[in-house]
Amino acid sequence: MEALIHSHAMGNVVRSGLRQKQKSLPSWLFYDEVGSILFERITTLPEYYLTRMERMLLCRYASAILDHVDRGRSLTVLELGAGSARKTALLLRAALADKRDVSYQPIDISAQSLEDAALHLAEELPALRVQPVLRDFSETPHPASVRLHDDARGQQMLLWLGSSAGNYEQQEAVRILTAAAAGMEKGDHLLIGLDMAPRADGKRTHHLLEAYNDAAGVTAEFNRNLLVRLNRELGAKFRPKQFEHSAHWNAAASRMEMHLVSTVAQSVRIEALEESFFFQRGEFIHTENSHKYTRENGHALLCAAGFPVVAEWHDPDVWYGLFLGERS
Ligand code: TRP
Repeated sequence: MEALIHSHAMGNVVRSGLRQKQKSLPSWLFYDEVGSILFERITTLPEYYLTRMERMLLCRYASAILDHVDRGRSLTVLELGAGSARKTALLLRAALADKRDVSYQPIDISAQSLEDAALHLAEELPALRVQPVLRDFSETPHPASVRLHDDARGQQMLLWLGSSAGNYEQQEAVRILTAAAAGMEKGDHLLIGLDMAPRADGKRTHHLLEAYNDAAGVTAEFNRNLLVRLNRELGAKFRPKQFEHSAHWNAAASRMEMHLVSTVAQSVRIEALEESFFFQRGEFIHTENSHKYTRENGHALLCAAGFPVVAEWHDPDVWYGLFLGERS
């Protein structure tokens, strides 16, 4: 029953996405079981510096981050799109080392990733209380955030790592944050990991192009896996080989864009929708945006979400940033 409802919702999303003049599909469709595994592989690619830098920053600055949090009270950490939560473990370990009561609520759309997270955290950090939440955090209306235990209110920290906020328009990111932080109070924190925009004197656009179009072709496979998923779950007849992965820098919008470009003129049937969709040769489906931030824009994002920045950490060349905001 659940699978049916799921496909129904998915069908509607795919229908409206492919009927548009500029075809597009929402990026949550990437993260089925195979997609989640492929994404984990992306995070280990030499070109994909984002995960490495964020891990380095979390490792180096975990205790500096926690210095902003009251040591005497219990702490609940909520994470949007937690995935396997490997990097988060660095922060959670530091929080537990302060001998406080720490709870962790990873929110993710992939059951597989949540299981993986719960398993390795139970092993690595047995004192941690973990309550995984399986859901799409971007959906509207946003279900009320789940409380771990009503007695220990403690403090809360909301995490949105991996440059995932960058996968949304700023307005949409603010809407998601506002909904997720609805139960948070003055003094609670928001920690966001953002990929920084290229600049004339350092990080260049070619570094971004390589990060989103790796030599081994994993990103291409990840992008095309979306079509494989539609074939399986909606009876679509995409021939994934006839769609090319393309990653393109949109300077005006300061974002990387991921496309699937049809290499031939073709019509693709989707059984579950009882509809066919025509593609010109060279026509593409827009599958993802990854916005790149200046420091000023990072501050503006957190501020708009109600968490003015109290501290930020970067690698020496400012390719990546962690921004900590506090609810005012
Ligand atoms: N949050 C990741 C990012 O924007 C997601 C991502 C990485 C991604 N590589 C991708 C999404 C390739 C689509 C295609 O960096």
